Amino acid sequence: MEIKKQLFGQTKTGEAVFAFTLKNQAGTKAVILTYGAAVQSLEFAGVDVILGYDTMPDYEAQDKYMGAVAGRFANRIGGGRFQLNGTEYTLCCNDGANHLHGGICGFDKKVWTADVEEDTLCMRYTSPNGEEGYPGTLCTEVRYHLDEENQLQIEYQAICDTDTVLNLTNHSYFNLNGHGSGTLQGQEIQIFADFYTENDTACLPTGVIASVADTPMDFRQPHEILERIDTDFVQLRHAGGYDHNWIPNCFVKEQMRKCAEVYARKSGIRLAVFSDQPGIQFYTGNFLDGIVKGKKGASYPRRSGFCLETQGFPNAPNYGHFPSTVLRQGEWFRSRTVFAFTKEHPDT
Ligand code: GLA
Repeated sequence: MEIKKQLFGQTKTGEAVFAFTLKNQAGTKAVILTYGAAVQSLEFAGVDVILGYDTMPDYEAQDKYMGAVAGRFANRIGGGRFQLNGTEYTLCCNDGANHLHGGICGFDKKVWTADVEEDTLCMRYTSPNGEEGYPGTLCTEVRYHLDEENQLQIEYQAICDTDTVLNLTNHSYFNLNGHGSGTLQGQEIQIFADFYTENDTACLPTGVIASVADTPMDFRQPHEILERIDTDFVQLRHAGGYDHNWIPNCFVKEQMRKCAEVYARKSGIRLAVFSDQPGIQFYTGNFLDGIVKGKKGASYPRRSGFCLETQGFPNAPNYGHFPSTVLRQGEWFRSRTVFAFTKEHPDT
């Protein structure tokens, strides 16, 4: 495995942004930017399966969290408010009346520092006390490693000087027939979950843990992503497609399990997602709009990429019955996600 560094561009404020290319012996290549610690591309079996942009102005012009680390708190916090140790905290609201993916200037818009430690890329960002309304100075480290089995391994670590809340994820959009190949047609997904968290009209959990049985949310057997997406099912109507937190079975703290698998018939590429987190947001790019042109002039219209965001439950700070997302002062947060790629014979 080799890691190469090159200048990618600079932010509007003149900060340099670097691109690190991780390459294994099979020729699989991942490019990670210091902007948002974002995965900019992932080339496997000759196909670039991740949506992204070629320039910094494009990254700064989009609001889709393209490839980035979402933080401090991935997904939504209702009303941008939560209580911790009897104090109410008010966060910046950037999604109507709610807080989304860390707020107005979340981790996706920060320039991270980067070091190469042997065959791992380590990115760090220190979020000052009060940033976007969150308590405590939080040091976050995200480690990227591409192994010889074509697995992109992501490790998250964080520590804070006060009690706080935290939910970190990666917001890569995948299209296993290649970025810019159009919609998600011909790609089937399996999610190993009996339950999901039901949403309200603002995509916020209602608190109800719902069974997937007899609904278009049931992916215990593989189904085409687009097969049932426009059915007249209230949860899909609310979100304009899939944009929900599934609860993969067999959650044991700090243990990895397979959460989901996606297969594209045309390319023969299969992606398996492993995580130690209690939830996974399956989002079908319902808000992609093709406005900012993607890499090499590609267009990213609605539903041309899917995200599998391993995470704590959305709005967990406001629900006592959701797994806790509280990070105690001085305790290490540690979490892992693996995106594993294999190739089968394409059908056509
Ligand atoms: C997440 C959310 C979506 C949307 C995207 C970003 O996946 O759940 O509702 O906000 O991020 O566009």
